[in-house]
Amino acid sequence: MRILSGIQPSGSLHLGNYFGMMKKMIEYQQEGELFCFIANYHAMTSLSDGKALAQGTLEAAANFLALGMDPEKSTFWVQSDIPEVQELTWFLSNFTPMGLLERCHSYKDKIAKGITANHGLFAYPVLMSADILMFNSERVPVGKDQKQHVEVARDIAIKVNNKYGEIFTLPEPDIDNNVATVPGLDGQKMSKSYGNTIDLFQDEKKLRKQIMRIVTDPTPVEEPKDPDNCNVFQIFRLFLDDNQQQALRQRYEAGGMGYGEVKQELFETVRDYFVPFTARRNDILADKEQLHKTLDMGAEKARYSAAKVLRKVRKKSGLAY
Ligand code: ADP
Ligand code: TRP
Repeated sequence: MRILSGIQPSGSLHLGNYFGMMKKMIEYQQEGELFCFIANYHAMTSLSDGKALAQGTLEAAANFLALGMDPEKSTFWVQSDIPEVQELTWFLSNFTPMGLLERCHSYKDKIAKGITANHGLFAYPVLMSADILMFNSERVPVGKDQKQHVEVARDIAIKVNNKYGEIFTLPEPDIDNNVATVPGLDGQKMSKSYGNTIDLFQDEKKLRKQIMRIVTDPTPVEEPKDPDNCNVFQIFRLFLDDNQQQALRQRYEAGGMGYGEVKQELFETVRDYFVPFTARRNDILADKEQLHKTLDMGAEKARYSAAKVLRKVRKKSGLAY
């Protein structure tokens, strides 16, 4: 089983990224052939500060490695180290109806928010399709917001296969309904672009400040509270097993527990959860030479895996003459 996913290095990584994608990818290393990359071309659609993109790329890679991505066992690389993906994007563009891209929620949402559309934003799902199809990916673990993009990849693959025979494997999105959308501080989807995140690997003071900002209702301390409508509970439960969730639920329902108290517990839980990985992450970032070596090795492995599909595409399309 080929499992592939990518993450954009367009800001600090947060709990939504971790539970929606990173944690699953790290666990999936035991289940199949794992391909994971830092999607820095995609990040260019929202970031034009070159220094920030370069720094974000290294940090995202270090976070993944510290949290358990094993570069020997898996294929782990930076997207732009294999620029061939751009050639594949162009090939796929010729099989991508305009309507398919115009229907993409992510694109429509951004336009609705007043972001000026450019071609990069519009063509984003085609580049993502190239990422997926270049490696014959079968399963693509993503948060719910990316499901439609995986479906676009599938639709384009079907069109190409109808024309040229079985070049591409059809991918399936893999979404864990339990964590399909991690809520942010304000209850909307946790996202860099909404400024409502709890970030990974920040110092204690900032972490506590973010958690204390989680929006709660004005129910007084002594009254029973509804965990299902509480942002603190919805985030907290990601760190708890079934019994622990049940116990916390009972404390909510019994009354007598204030939101300040449960926020303090959540802060300590998040802090303690990431502590074991922090030193490792800092060591990785301190040795840039080794980090570059690791990423170069990943790119080499990825390029080797992509070669067969790319050869077929060049041959069928007539680019190889
Ligand atoms: P952001 O919305 O902060 O820009 P990205 O779009 O870069 O995050 O998301 C990277 C990965 O993390 C994707 O697989 C995405 O689906 C997942 N993800 C992001 N935010 C969440 C969330 N709040 N809940 C679940 N998964 C998420
Ligand atoms: N668009 C994805 C996101 O923002 C990142 C991504 C790029 C991706 N290429 C991919 C995810 C290929 C899965 C497969 O989260």
